[in-house]
Amino acid sequence: MAINKEKAAFSSLLPVLAFIKPYKWVVFAALGALLLTAGVNLSLGQGVKFVIDHGFIAGSQEQLQQAVMVLIGLISLLAIGTFCRFYLMSWIGERVSNDIRNAIFERIVTLHPSYFEENRSGELMSRLTTDTTLLQSIIGSSFSMALRSSLMLVGGLAMLLITNLKLTLVVVACVPMVLVPMLIFGRKVRKLASSSQDAIADISTYAGEIIQNIKVVQSFSHEAREKAAFAEETNKAFLVAKSRIKQRSLLIAAVIFLTFSAISVMLWVGGSDVLAGTMTGGELGAFVFYAIMVAMSVATVAEVYGELQRAAGAAARLLELLAVESMIQNPAHNKDDQLELNKADHPAIRFDNVSFNYPSRPDKAALSTLNLEVKQGQTVAIVGPSGAGKTTLFELLQRFYDPSAGSISLAGINIKELSLHCLRQQMGMVAQNPILFSCDVMHNIRYGNPHASDEQVFTAAKYAHADEFITQLPQGYHSFLGEQGVRLSGGQKQRIVLARAILKDPAILLLDEATSALDAQSESHVQAALEHLMKDRTTLIIAHRLATVKHADVIVVMDKGEIIATGTHQQLLTSNPLYKQLCELQFNRD
Ligand SMILES: Nc1ncnc2c1ncn2[C@@H]1O[C@H](COP(=O)(O)OP(=O)(O)O)[C@@H](O)[C@H]1O
Ligand SMILES: [Mg+2]
Repeated sequence: MAINKEKAAFSSLLPVLAFIKPYKWVVFAALGALLLTAGVNLSLGQGVKFVIDHGFIAGSQEQLQQAVMVLIGLISLLAIGTFCRFYLMSWIGERVSNDIRNAIFERIVTLHPSYFEENRSGELMSRLTTDTTLLQSIIGSSFSMALRSSLMLVGGLAMLLITNLKLTLVVVACVPMVLVPMLIFGRKVRKLASSSQDAIADISTYAGEIIQNIKVVQSFSHEAREKAAFAEETNKAFLVAKSRIKQRSLLIAAVIFLTFSAISVMLWVGGSDVLAGTMTGGELGAFVFYAIMVAMSVATVAEVYGELQRAAGAAARLLELLAVESMIQNPAHNKDDQLELNKADHPAIRFDNVSFNYPSRPDKAALSTLNLEVKQGQTVAIVGPSGAGKTTLFELLQRFYDPSAGSISLAGINIKELSLHCLRQQMGMVAQNPILFSCDVMHNIRYGNPHASDEQVFTAAKYAHADEFITQLPQGYHSFLGEQGVRLSGGQKQRIVLARAILKDPAILLLDEATSALDAQSESHVQAALEHLMKDRTTLIIAHRLATVKHADVIVVMDKGEIIATGTHQQLLTSNPLYKQLCELQFNRD
């Protein structure tokens, strides 16, 4: 995502048109309203001329009244047109930016997990929010402002020429005087605005991390340090903002001074003509009106131009994200209907010479030429020191990554030939750190099977030995669990996650045993829940407990990405020194 924040070709805005296309009728209606208001705006100048010449100068009360009535009529039309234009344009802006958000989210949820190791979630978040908001303001307001101003600029200049040639030349001479400072200061303001946004993003990243790790901060009594560090961040943002507002204030002051000076010069030149009788007062009034209109249009176009540039940058970044293809793809033709896990002539799971490197560590193999067969209904315990590649085995089995070499099959079918949905539907994964959504218990358990009835959820919770503590929560199954389930103990979280797996009722169970989070009592609860879950199911379990290991049909010992031994507990105790050592160090808690 190394696209220049400031500038990108305007052509990168073109693909956004595809998102606007479904609403083209709304766009036409808005353009109609835009033409109407521009037309009325231009004719208002004639109204001003009429009121002055036929009302004041002619001294006719009746004509003044008529003129004012016409003026009010025009103004009403302007109000209605403006309502339509503003409403419709903003509607399109909001609709399209939300459509783009949906498209991006849809893309993000299907991307291969390693993408998220390379790209910070905060950055993706700002794609979803800041960049789309920028586009929304462009489509919804800036663009229509630019269009309207361009129309007014051309129309206003034409009306100026019609009204008075000499004065028009004065105006045309003054325009660059206003434009030059605008362009100079404007560029500075934009640059500072963009670094201002970056500074704000830094603030929120910083605060987000501290809030998430608040207990660590407090237990080390680092509140004061963090406060100071945070204040430094906010101060940086303030300093950037200060120079930005200084430039902006200068810009506004310069524009006001130059515009009104130019108008004064015009009044002086035009006033002399009125005095000399070569021009009517109404003409001068209309002229000033159009001149102001032209000046404002020029200012708007210049300002919007810069914004369009930023939007082009945002669009380029968004489209880049939309173009990312997941490295894990569904097969063109899947063999889902041939999958029969209880077929006897193939092992349920088979790793065949599987090697794998994580994309971020191309030179270090996480698994090397690994072979493993798991029969239908078997429980296989995997043991090994930390970093041996146990969890990696599970990740490959679920196709979060594809092996660099070798293949993995379910009942004789290469998992790459199964649809991702079918493959993952066969498996229930209980991760080492239970992962909960910040919703209620019901939602968290039902995540295993969205179609399950309330009764089924209760039953699953009972099997997971979770029902008892859930019903004691303040709102039972509708108790809110807080972010990451902070309102539960480790063992309780574990049991909710187990209930989720029970509800999914998968053919293959992948368990990454949690150790540290559990006290003796919840450990026995979790153990009982696990036993229920594992019964008659093909299970791979990364074991940290002697009880689990003893229950297993086969134990696999892994080290440095390889399987170094397989056997039963008794066999391995005598034949494998690493296993013996693991038993002494890790399993001695039972
Ligand atoms: N996402 C990742 N990116 C890069 N390397 C990783 C990633 N996850 C794990 N590893 C590395 O791969 C090796 C195996 O990790 P893992 O399978 O998690 O081990 P275990 O579960 O046996 O403790 C370790 O050296 C680890 O540092
Ligand atoms: Mg692990």
